[in-house]
Amino acid sequence: MNRALEWQSDAGRLRLLDQRLLPGRTVWLDCHDAPETAAAIRDMVVRGAPAIGITAAWGAVLSARRHFADGGDWRSRVEADLEHLAAARPTAVNLARALDRMRAALDRADAGPETVEAEAARIEAEDIAANRRIGALGAELLPQRARVLTHCNTGFLATGGHGTAAGILRSAFEAGKLHAVFATETRPWLQGLRLTTWELARDGIPVTVIVDSAAAALMRAGEGDAVVVGADRITTRGDVANKIGTYALALAARAHDIPFIVAAPSTTLDPDLAEGDRIPIEDRDPHEIWRVLGRDQAPEGVETHNPAFDITPAELVTAIVTEAGVSRPGEGV
Ligand code: MRU
Repeated sequence: MNRALEWQSDAGRLRLLDQRLLPGRTVWLDCHDAPETAAAIRDMVVRGAPAIGITAAWGAVLSARRHFADGGDWRSRVEADLEHLAAARPTAVNLARALDRMRAALDRADAGPETVEAEAARIEAEDIAANRRIGALGAELLPQRARVLTHCNTGFLATGGHGTAAGILRSAFEAGKLHAVFATETRPWLQGLRLTTWELARDGIPVTVIVDSAAAALMRAGEGDAVVVGADRITTRGDVANKIGTYALALAARAHDIPFIVAAPSTTLDPDLAEGDRIPIEDRDPHEIWRVLGRDQAPEGVETHNPAFDITPAELVTAIVTEAGVSRPGEGV
């Protein structure tokens, strides 16, 4: 099993690997309609920018199947579902872009359950192919015996397969270039501690987990050759939204003259935004911060600020790797 989701056409359901329970338990959750799919995205059953785009596309298929069968004004009922799916998480542009593609498929003259399903399958297959290409291109940027620091989870769990930043790590490992991976724990959902370590260790990739606040010291000690991260949205000028803490990693990497590499499929590029500060940043439930070691740790009434993402300005980015090639926004290209 190396997939976050599985479409089962005959059964008319989307199966999602419940990432909240990993690595302890492997539980698949079934979605039968768009509202269930939107709830699974919102509640982090599935997460990671490309994976939520693909999930939303299958959610659109579930909606189309249900409402085609009802007849009547099926298209406006599907549209209401698409808007519900789009609102599930605001920062990753892959979600909105996948739904735009599904809208176009729904509006084609020959639209029907099969054509809409074929479009979702294409979105998923294209993501896997993009990740393999990103992996190959990104691995070339790393030195021999590379020691790489990464953040959050960007592997098959976060994508259609292979992964973006983790795809680079996988490809570098396959090419015999990867010596060590340092995975930040990634508070508060612990995507690094729970998911990245699990994925990489299953592939035999040497991975060491560190607390988020250990990253700069590790760079200062000369133990990292590069930082490689994914992205949830990249603007036309190269500003990058990614998991909270990414900006701090980029600052530390610049201070220690370490390349800061961002990996993402072109579905993560937002053609309509130039300034990173205009990207909507998801603000999540304070309980995600308070609740540690099985109980609420903060004193009663304490204020909490829980942004799920931050913006790294283009000037701090050494390279952006997409399936189309490598660009260098820090150098203005
Ligand atoms: O809140 P999450 O777990 O959905 O955040 C995921 C990330 O920030 C990833 O780094 C990003 O989506 C790139 S995944 C290929």
